[in-house]
Amino acid sequence: MGSQAIFNVKDEWWRSAVIYQIYPRSFADANGDGIGDLQGITERLPYLASLGVDAVWLSPFYKSPQADAGYDVADYRQVDPLFGTLDDFDAMLNKAHGLGLRIIVDLVPNHSSDEHEWFQAALASPPGSPERERYIFRDGKGEHGELPPNNWKSVFGGGAWTRPEGEQQWYLHLFDTKQPDFNWNNPEVRDEFTSVLRFWLDRGVDGFRVDVAHGLIKKEGLPDCSVQQAMIEGGDPGPMWDQDGVHDIYKQWRSVLDEYDGDRMMVAEAWVVPQERLARYIRSDEMQQAFNFEYLGSQWNARDVRKVVDDSLAQTALVGAPTTWVMSNHDGVRHASRFGLSTPGYRPKGISAKDEQPDEALGLERARGFAFMTFFLPGSAYIYQGEELGLPEHTNMDDKYRQDPTFWRTKGEEVGRDGCRVPLPWQADAPAFGFGPSDKSWLPQPPNFARYAVDVEEKDSDSTLALYRRVLALRAEYRLGKGELEWLESPTPDALLARNGDVYTLLNFGAEPVALPWSDVEILASSKALSAHQQLQSGGGVWFKRL
Ligand code: GLC
Ligand code: CA
Repeated sequence: MGSQAIFNVKDEWWRSAVIYQIYPRSFADANGDGIGDLQGITERLPYLASLGVDAVWLSPFYKSPQADAGYDVADYRQVDPLFGTLDDFDAMLNKAHGLGLRIIVDLVPNHSSDEHEWFQAALASPPGSPERERYIFRDGKGEHGELPPNNWKSVFGGGAWTRPEGEQQWYLHLFDTKQPDFNWNNPEVRDEFTSVLRFWLDRGVDGFRVDVAHGLIKKEGLPDCSVQQAMIEGGDPGPMWDQDGVHDIYKQWRSVLDEYDGDRMMVAEAWVVPQERLARYIRSDEMQQAFNFEYLGSQWNARDVRKVVDDSLAQTALVGAPTTWVMSNHDGVRHASRFGLSTPGYRPKGISAKDEQPDEALGLERARGFAFMTFFLPGSAYIYQGEELGLPEHTNMDDKYRQDPTFWRTKGEEVGRDGCRVPLPWQADAPAFGFGPSDKSWLPQPPNFARYAVDVEEKDSDSTLALYRRVLALRAEYRLGKGELEWLESPTPDALLARNGDVYTLLNFGAEPVALPWSDVEILASSKALSAHQQLQSGGGVWFKRL
């Protein structure tokens, strides 16, 4: 008996959707100030429709001082003037819906900006006041309270507590000083976010990507942390991550979403291990999806990839939810570059000129090959803007341009995430590679971006863009997202061979070419030309049918 029978799985769109992540400041700039904006997105929506994706997730565009590129929200119901206005948002949403594209927005509930009116009111009010109860203020340790209340560290480096000038108390921030954590035990905070959800649902959004979904509830009493807490390492979540109390919040949100028509959804950003803990976020009365970061951290290795895929499918089937297949996002080194390093894995810390430099051609080949696994698998798949071009990381950016708070808070020890956030190249010969009408670009684009510009790839039938369009069209045609995976015995241990309905895939992780196991095949798509004897080169992927 499959999960279908147990859960009476419906045909909701998100179960098999391909979702494209837009990082608004780096997608397309309509007004020439060097920062991408909502109008720029609206103008480029036809490009996304022609790529063949089902939905778009937008990273934050809300009013914000931009201390963490918008993940520090000062007003959850306003668009930051950098990106446009609420009218621009509505225009974008309408056009997207007209093109058959759904829109998912980012919700940042763990913390606000310190410039949010609630935090300003908290600072202006005395300890113990209701205004302070919306955040996590505590007295310090030591004779004069001069030591932080506990030993927690910020994810971005340095301590997790700040004591503002002239203040007696400290406040908690798991991220930057300018991102104070909300107190989710306070019903006022819960009510406020229910209202924010409704605000965007009423405007017509199709869902939410929930930032730091594993962080909202902290362990009672805020005890010292005995593990070196990171967002992903190890199995011990410490006193700040993956506390059981978070699930009540998502159940309540789910009931709000269910009041609306159109299968509105939520996807959790939850850095939780192992997969069975992650699956708790996507039980049938909580969120619909969670990002599969274990897949994102894949090594270039057949055995490991198969294991991650099997674990992911098994755990999500237990709760009747789809798996998400995601290779890159705005928080880690782009996979086209990771796969060109000696140890690929996940890299949140960025690459600088002093680090090992990726082999660009090798990384690109492997990234193209890996697409034949990602979009073959049943479930939902994510694309991070630019990956459809095979875009590499900026790996030798001059430090003077860096903006990620991680860089500053670790005093340069980690260069951070700017290298994956560089504005997209649309035209090889235009200023700022056509990012906008001026030569401005908020981060510098490396010269090799010219090779990956959309206009160059549109003219080339062997380009990564052409490959993505083909693969996404086939995925839809053969309904692979709704299908089932079956592993078959591969010709070599360094390759993976699998079947999903009528379609077969072979992905070659090894150094030597691998022959297709049968000769009576029709090739549907391939990342590398196949030789006359149907030999798949190293790093290559292929989809075929048997005749
Ligand atoms: C999430 C976001 C990341 C942000 C952090 C704090 O991890 O993806 O970009 O810096 O949360 O909001
Ligand atoms: Ca702009």
